[in-house]
Amino acid sequence: MNRVPIIAGNWKMHLTGDQALDLVDHIRLNLPSPGEVDIIVAPSYLCLERVARQLQSSYIGVAAQNMHYEDNGAYTGECSGPQIKRAGADYVIIGHSERRQYFAETDETVNKKIKAAFANQLIPILCIGETLEQREKKFVSEIIETQLRCGLAGLSHENATQLVIAYEPVWAIGTGKTATPEQVEDVHLIIRSQLKATFDTPVAEAVRILYGGSVKPANSKGLLALPNVDGALIGGASLKAADFIAIINSLSR
Ligand code: PGA
Repeated sequence: MNRVPIIAGNWKMHLTGDQALDLVDHIRLNLPSPGEVDIIVAPSYLCLERVARQLQSSYIGVAAQNMHYEDNGAYTGECSGPQIKRAGADYVIIGHSERRQYFAETDETVNKKIKAAFANQLIPILCIGETLEQREKKFVSEIIETQLRCGLAGLSHENATQLVIAYEPVWAIGTGKTATPEQVEDVHLIIRSQLKATFDTPVAEAVRILYGGSVKPANSKGLLALPNVDGALIGGASLKAADFIAIINSLSR
């Protein structure tokens, strides 16, 4: 199965609007010619529309970092699917561990958001992953299976095929500790077999599974070459155009 890889930059709560546009320009100037790769950047809500406009004629896609599951309503401080879509995004990151850890995101809210994303023609990038304590207690497969089962409950086969999943071990995010290629491939295989059990083989083979957690130019080649790794979700290194481009170039295409 030939899955088009994705290299996505999660800018988190970094960059003002002008800095975001500057970064986008640097990325565009140095981008390799379009090939078999989907490139995505995820700016803050505040500059999403400006970034999307700047990228209109490029092949770089835009993602929001979160969304509310209702289309509108009295939810102070939140943004909805229609607002995000209208601002120019095609993707939305759902259930990032920082949302789960600091903003009370649960598998249930993740599930509602995944469905709301599809209802608004946004492709969700569902983030899952275990904490260090869960890994040390050998709970990795249970955690991954629960996050997938609850997060994807009630999803149609058609939507499931389009889904993007990012495996991001919490202990590897922003810590400089990358999971070893063996650890990554092991969990990606667990994810694929769970997708097969929940849906079917075509869904399991179509879903793109990214790895995230301290991906840098120095380690990306080995991770991206793994058979069940279909790209990367990159935090820190996506804030430097040169590093982001180097990671894209490390894809063996
Ligand atoms: P990191 O972040 O690359 O800085 O570890 C990854 C992420 O949180 O998506």
